[in-house]
Amino acid sequence: MRTFAKVLAVTAVAAIAVTGCGRSNTTTGGGAAPTSAPAVSDVPASGASGASDTSGTSGASGASGASGASGSSEPSGGSGAAAFPADALIGVALPQKTSENWVLAENLFKTDLAAAGFKADVQFANGGVSEQQNQITAMVTKGAKVIVVGAIDGSQLGSQLKAAKDSGAIVIAYDRLLKNTAAVDYYIAYDNFKVGVLQGKALLEGMAKKKPKGPYNIELFAGSPDDANAQVFFDGAMSILKPKIDDGTLKVTSGQKDFQQVVTQGWKAENAQKRMDALLTAHYTSAVLDGVLSPNDTLARAIITSVKAAGKPVPVVTGQDSEVESVKSIMAGEQYSTINKDTRNLVKDTITMLTTLQKGGKPDINDPKSYNNGVKVVPAHLLPPLIVTKENAKEAYANDPTLSPLTK
Ligand code: BGC
Repeated sequence: MRTFAKVLAVTAVAAIAVTGCGRSNTTTGGGAAPTSAPAVSDVPASGASGASDTSGTSGASGASGASGASGSSEPSGGSGAAAFPADALIGVALPQKTSENWVLAENLFKTDLAAAGFKADVQFANGGVSEQQNQITAMVTKGAKVIVVGAIDGSQLGSQLKAAKDSGAIVIAYDRLLKNTAAVDYYIAYDNFKVGVLQGKALLEGMAKKKPKGPYNIELFAGSPDDANAQVFFDGAMSILKPKIDDGTLKVTSGQKDFQQVVTQGWKAENAQKRMDALLTAHYTSAVLDGVLSPNDTLARAIITSVKAAGKPVPVVTGQDSEVESVKSIMAGEQYSTINKDTRNLVKDTITMLTTLQKGGKPDINDPKSYNNGVKVVPAHLLPPLIVTKENAKEAYANDPTLSPLTK
């Protein structure tokens, strides 16, 4: 098992820094998506998909086609003439290291692309959007046949992606949709609307376990507004929470309920921690905070740090990414939930897509219609996310050599 360095941007907030615990990036058994029944029911998001209409991510709910999508089905093509050489250069443009999953992806892409016979150029853009633009341009210049993009800002890469297409390269949006451009061929990701749905349900269930009846005081947090996923996570969660806000079961004490009011710029822990500090001071001197919708683990730990520093009891806090420190926190009874979006499976399915494309085949698409990026509907390969709480952590991480020992 190899480990990766903890070089996440979040380490600026010492109290929530992830230290000393390597996360496996092995692909052995990479097909091992957890199969256990989630603690929070895995509702089909039908009826919820319309919620994304206001988001500017029109139709990006993507939930309906994803159920049962394991990514394991055979490619539907592959017998045609090779589309590009089997040892072609593949560019992978990753965003900033805002969560462990991106660091895992970097390592997996490097090793697995090489194992599949490709040449790999895998880049992070910690410097921001212009760095990512330059990296994509450089990949085109070097002759990359496919460019896989985890965008910092999926709306800011139009001309670089067009140049990639003009050079004959295939463009794949990885994890985050590429918006407002025709220059994207496929989208591969976990079903992000469903992630939000599962977070909303976990928040309700966690609070009901502590206090059977509402009303419950809650606060809402969203991710970075430049990341196309942030609104989708929020819309998924609000598809569950809004009816409960409307009927009075939930009270957002601060009144901050709109996406723009609750975003966390750059997915930065310190921004979430500062906002939580301010909310506690302004609204919770006497009121009790029952729950917080947090879009990912990094922000969940920042929120918990803030609450503890204020000397308040830890509310029910959701998360996402199954980060090492959050899995520990869940097992210790602090953070309530996370989401397992096993990076090994996402990278594995991306490589399968690449090898299929290389052979001139058609990739396995299980949602051909939900991901309208503003210019075109991008054919999507979606994987199913899994909610994880203390109750199902052992089964959920049974095949993860790093997380499994934490659940014993
Ligand atoms: C990913 C999440 C991650 C966030 C911050 C999102 O686009 O889907 O898994 O927590 O970025 O890195």
